[in-house]
This record gives sequence, structure tokens and C-alpha cells, in this order.
Amino acid sequence: MADDKLWGGRFSQPTDKFVEEFTASINFDQRMYRYDIEGSIAHAKMLARQQIIADDEAMQIIDGLQTILADIEADHFEFFVALEDIHMNIESALIKRIGPVGGKLHTARSRNDQVALDIRLYLRDEIKTILDYLNRLQEALLGQSEANLSVIMPGFTHLQTAQPVLFSHHLLAYYEMVKRDSSRMQDVLKRLNYLPLGAGALAGTTFPIDREYVAELLGFDGVTRNSLDSVSDRDFALEFCAAASILMMHLSRLSEELILWSSADFNFIELTDAFCTGSSIMPQKKNPDVPELVRGKTGRVYGNLISLLTLMKALPLAYNKDMQEDKEPLFDTIDTVKGSLKIFADMIAQMQIKTENMRIAAARGFSTATDVADYCVRKGLPFRQAHEVVGKTVRYCVENNKEIPELTLAEFRVFSELIEADIYDYVTLEASVNARRATGGTAREAVEREIQRARSERCQQTC
Ligand code: ARG
Repeated sequence: MADDKLWGGRFSQPTDKFVEEFTASINFDQRMYRYDIEGSIAHAKMLARQQIIADDEAMQIIDGLQTILADIEADHFEFFVALEDIHMNIESALIKRIGPVGGKLHTARSRNDQVALDIRLYLRDEIKTILDYLNRLQEALLGQSEANLSVIMPGFTHLQTAQPVLFSHHLLAYYEMVKRDSSRMQDVLKRLNYLPLGAGALAGTTFPIDREYVAELLGFDGVTRNSLDSVSDRDFALEFCAAASILMMHLSRLSEELILWSSADFNFIELTDAFCTGSSIMPQKKNPDVPELVRGKTGRVYGNLISLLTLMKALPLAYNKDMQEDKEPLFDTIDTVKGSLKIFADMIAQMQIKTENMRIAAARGFSTATDVADYCVRKGLPFRQAHEVVGKTVRYCVENNKEIPELTLAEFRVFSELIEADIYDYVTLEASVNARRATGGTAREAVEREIQRARSERCQQTC
């Protein structure tokens, strides 16, 4: 019935049942219940402190809200679609429990500033969890890098063998990406952490509220500065979805590599059985389902960002009901990112490395050709000519089915007289890798320095 509704006063007919269902958000926004209650408690405290309501009224409201919180947590609370959203479900339950005084909670507040507050509080917590998961993934990558410091693999460009690199160096590339993801998430937090409550429906409120006090109670860095912006801004959700998209792009690249590496053709790694499944028809199959699925899920996270951008595009100020559609893409992004990160941290930590196969692959494909060219350059040949010399050497190798270190000195010298017996000191995998010593290079000493650096940075964060 219309008069059951918290806003029923203006209406003479009940809402159409289907319209009620169509316009409700309770099925998805109920996950914000804890933050809705936390925000209401802070609001009630402020109302009493400002003498807008009496102290004992605030106390009854806070007690009532706490019993509602306990009931929801214990799964003893019934949500009603007719009450549309989490805000009205809780407020209506409060009035039912403590009587008309419960109706004073919504003084100097609107659902428009309330929902903006709830999303910020909820997302703030979720980002903290995501930061923790990112940290675990960094730890897994760093741990595997430390444990496999002598493993050499082929480095690729165009997915063609290019130069040998340390496997640790390759993993640390992902460490860097995840570190940036983490810094982007922290950045989202910085701009998110302002209190929008107090904007009312759009213009502010006629009551003598103290927004700074509420901000302090809820751990915000300050208050938003414009009431219209406060209720219509979803930049923080957009920034989060953008950061999440980049993060998933990184995971999709690592996924792709894990899938390739665990194929029979590469055979560089083995993912533990817990992260794979079999085929119902081909008995030999062990499929890398987890990385495949994470690669696939990247698409929905991009989609959610585009949904949200499209939702907000050209919306006039201030609140519009369209904005209720912000929650599902946001929630789905949070769930997808959390799930993917959680599973990745364990999968990386448990991945088995096939050292010998990586090494054999690294020795194929003339991977030390650049080292021969650099050798000639050090003997005085301009790089472009050295490139030409080695190009011809490689063609000779291809025609004679030899790798570069297998050439005799006489064969080397056909292409350049500058080459002497010490060339063999430069064309081993270790020599090639360890020659790249400058900061950020793949030499073992350079990689060890970066590991050390990562370790001390991490220690500064937590120790
Ligand atoms: N359920 C709404 C949302 O998610 C809450 C705000 C509704 N405000 C309103 N005036 N209808 O956006």
C-alpha cells in the first residue's frame, strides 16, 4: 500500500507491482548494509550533538540500528522489495522497532547524500582488501623470483626468441606492474575519502549540522565542498573501475603467458592440479582454467568501466535515478578483481618451474646474436656494420643448422676478422645475461639489487 512507503504521503495509489520490482535496488545494494548503518549512527550522533534531536532520541536510534546490524549479520533480517533500497529497508525497520522517534534519523539528510556516503564507505573498505590482495600477489612474485635466481629463459619480442633473460627478471616485470596497480588504488582512496553527507537532496540543509564532526567520526580526510557535486559525483567509482581495468589487463597478460608456458610446446612451467581441470573427452588434458578464466574476466571489468562512463555521460545535475545503475558494475568489478587476485597469489606461489626446458629454449633461436654484435662494436666496428656481420652469421647458422656458440673460430672469422677466441666468453647464456648490468637490466647482480630494493621497500611499509 502507498501508505507503507516512507515517501507515501504524496501518493494516492499504490505502486504498480512490476514498477516496484523494476525500480528497486535492494537485491544488490543490501551488501552495503554495514556502511549504511555506520553512516546513520554517525549522523545520529551529530544530530544530538547539534541539539537537532535529543540525546536520548539519538541513543534509541543508535541502539535500534545496532540490533538491526546484528540481525542482518545473523541472517535474521527480512529485506522487502517494496521498500526499494537498503536505506529505506533499514529506516523502516528502525521505525518498526523503536517507534516514531526512528523517523527523526532522516532529519537533515536525503537518500541522495546517504547513498553517496554508503558507496564511498563501502568502496573504501573494499579497496583496502584489494590492496592487501595486491600485496600478496607481489609477495608471490617476489618469492618466486628469489627462489629461481639462476633460471634463464628466452626473452621474447614479437613472441620470437630475442635475448636470454633471467626468469626472475621476467617475474619482476609483473611485480612492477602490480606495484603500480597498488599505487593507483591508493590514489583512488585519496580522492574518495571525503564526506558527501550534508548535501541533503541537492542544495544543503536548513538544519545547523556539523559535517566536519561526521567526517571525523567516519575517518574521512574532510568534507566535499559543493552540495550539487556531492550527490552527483561518481568519479571515485569511475577511477576505481579504471584502475581495476588496468590491473586486469596486467593479470590477463600474465594469464596469457602462464597458458603458453604450460602448453606442451613451451613446457616451461606446471601449474598445480588445484588450479587446472581435465577434459571430459581427451584423457591427457590438464587445462589451465584459472588463467584462462581470469583472461576472460578482464572483458567484463572493461565492460563495467564503459557502462559506468556511459551511465554518467551527459547526466544533468544533480541526482538522477539513472545513478542507481552505478552499483552493479561497481560491485561486479570489486568481486571479479578480488577473486582474480586471490587465486593468482596462490597459483603463482605454487607454480612449478621447469628450469631445464627454459634453458634449452633460451639457447635456441640465436639468442646471443646481439652479444656478438656488441662484441664487434667494442672492437671498433660501428653498430650498423656489426648488425650486418651478425645477420650474415645467423643466416649461415640457419643454413648449417648450428647455434651461435657452436660455430668454430674459423667460421666466425669468415664474417669478421675482428672476432677472436675470447668470443666464446660472450656467447654463453650466463655471459649474455650477466653483461646487462645497468639498473633495470637482466644481469643477476642487477636483478638481485632490485629484489633487495623491493624487500626493503616492503619492509618500510610493514616493519
Ligand atoms: N537506491 C537509490 C540509488 O541507488 C538511492 C537514492 C535514491 N534517491 C532518490 N531520490 N530516489 O541511487
